[in-house]
Amino acid sequence: MIFKQFFDEQSSTYTYIIGSEKNKESLIIDSVADNVDEYLDFLNHNKLKLLFALDTHIHADHISGMSLLYEKTGCKLFMGEHTTAEGLTRKLQNNEELRVGDMIVKVIFTPGHTSDSYCFLIDDMLFTGDTLLIGETGRTDFQNGNSESAYNSLFNIILKFPDNTKIYPGHDYNGKKSSTVGYEKKTNPRLQVKSKEEYANLMNKLNLPKPKKIDIAIPRNIKLGKK
Ligand SMILES: [Fe+2]
Repeated sequence: MIFKQFFDEQSSTYTYIIGSEKNKESLIIDSVADNVDEYLDFLNHNKLKLLFALDTHIHADHISGMSLLYEKTGCKLFMGEHTTAEGLTRKLQNNEELRVGDMIVKVIFTPGHTSDSYCFLIDDMLFTGDTLLIGETGRTDFQNGNSESAYNSLFNIILKFPDNTKIYPGHDYNGKKSSTVGYEKKTNPRLQVKSKEEYANLMNKLNLPKPKKIDIAIPRNIKLGKK
């Protein structure tokens, strides 16, 4: 398997390219428009064909690279069925499986951070978008976020995966690149709550500033990053 994690300095977003060594097919998760040339260089260098571009949800802090990637490579564009994004090849169903070379990508609906948040599982790697971050969890105060649904997605879906499942988040603000389900379960301060109510209380008290680009990013990302 070919695996590459890219970091966008401006928005602290992680983007992932995962490719099959065997037949050189690949996918990209949570691309950033500003960094599309870097992705194309990586694909060319590794002789990878980009089959799919996936976003975990409509992002509020950066412009998605999906429409640019489509222009440059003709890849298929997918998001989960709860998204309001327009121009996708198709919307993915919860529990659907996509094949990329010899890899299977499992689609998992995990609402809470937003009402359209999905995670993607490839082997033992779970790409969590903003549902679960390292030492944090995604905020739930805009884009139809809901702290009770987030609790359900975290405790009844993500934390049910085996402890050694690797977590690859959509962001990190402290230079951490990956974690595991077991480590987050033990150490993530947001996951030490005893009930849905306690989690909702914790999330409702965060008082985070509004993301700087939200008013530009959301309308653009509904069009998959197109101007
Ligand atoms: Fe987000």
